[in-house]
Amino acid sequence: MHDHDDRPTGPVDPYTREAVSPEAGADEHQLEGALRPRSLDDFVGQERVRDQLSLVLDSARKRNRAPDHVLMSGGPGLGKTTLAMIIAAELGAPLRITSGPAIERSGDLAAVLSTLQEGEVLFLDEIHRMARPAEEMLYVAMEDFRVDVVVGKGPGATAIPLEIAPFTLVGATTRAGMLPAPLRDRFGFTAHMDFYTAQELERILHRSAGLLGVPLAEDAAREIAGRSRGTPRIANRLLRRVRDYAEVRGDGVMSLETARATLELYEVDALGLDRLDRAILDVLLKRFRGGPVGLSTLAVSVGEEAETVEVVAEPFLVRSGFLARTPRGRVATPLAWSHLGIAPPPDAAFGAAAAAAQSGTPGNGTSGGAPATP
Ligand SMILES: Nc1ncnc2c1ncn2[C@@H]1O[C@H](COP(=O)(O)OP(=O)(O)O)[C@@H](O)[C@H]1O
Ligand SMILES: [Mg+2]
Repeated sequence: MHDHDDRPTGPVDPYTREAVSPEAGADEHQLEGALRPRSLDDFVGQERVRDQLSLVLDSARKRNRAPDHVLMSGGPGLGKTTLAMIIAAELGAPLRITSGPAIERSGDLAAVLSTLQEGEVLFLDEIHRMARPAEEMLYVAMEDFRVDVVVGKGPGATAIPLEIAPFTLVGATTRAGMLPAPLRDRFGFTAHMDFYTAQELERILHRSAGLLGVPLAEDAAREIAGRSRGTPRIANRLLRRVRDYAEVRGDGVMSLETARATLELYEVDALGLDRLDRAILDVLLKRFRGGPVGLSTLAVSVGEEAETVEVVAEPFLVRSGFLARTPRGRVATPLAWSHLGIAPPPDAAFGAAAAAAQSGTPGNGTSGGAPATP
């Protein structure tokens, strides 16, 4: 069915990739806002996180105090921003939004912290990308609701403690492993966001179709859900594309037929793999005979940043059983060979089991003399 042999293995065109990228496009935030659930009851799936969080919120409300700081970790598009907004809404508290990259100096953080209102929820997106000196200021603020403002320079510099209003920090990160332990430890509660099941995505799709006011057939929802990589953002985006197709080329109803035609048009395959995923598998199979190969080598070969490959493509490929992470590098599984319709060479490394059997050999997970995987 899928003839990928003639697909380019060079850099992936960002425009064709966009359809199933879990990251939000530049002009997509407003569209997303319209489909965002506003309460914990509206938030589909993530049962455990919802349960834990509602306990934290209920108890805070009962004691009439700001709840513990919350850290949300999970891949892009799984609902971290949505949940932060829900936390503020459920508490009836104001919400301040900022992000790690916006905090370049500790002064940037001091400006935010010192103007918080009592009980305000501070959402710090991509918290792992905050400047180091600001991290230390954040520890103190989280623990003691205090900011030490340094006045002057050199030996004459003094730190003036400034009290700040009790607030709740909600941090979000796609890479919890990159947070320094002292910062991680200061969160009272960490929510691990997981991929969604197909059934959960179907519920999200029906809810979104209702909000868009366009009829969605059961089987169409099932089809879209199955190709959304376990990610609500992708499900909603594919739904909007199917809606466009239905309105422009169809009869305004999102039927199975329309859904399939749309997904074909955007090159989303039967398992939800997009061009970047396929490019990675293609390179892994054809150039590296199934691996093992280091992350950075793999990323360079498809013309992407290592972080993009690691955060955006890999978790889904691993979870779907196409790729295994081993101590010696990334290895293609038998499913990868069969999905791309290529016969594996007899000496191909197969998945985790085969690689583990060989991992007695010292290695740093690289191949071809490329720099080591971080
Ligand atoms: N549990 C959920 N139920 C319903 N819709 C969701 C859920 N999680 C995410 N979404 C939808 O997916 C989109 C992306 O979610 P977002 O919170 O921005 O993800 P993240 O911040 O983790 O990248 C939002 O527009 C939201 O409508
Ligand atoms: Mg977000």
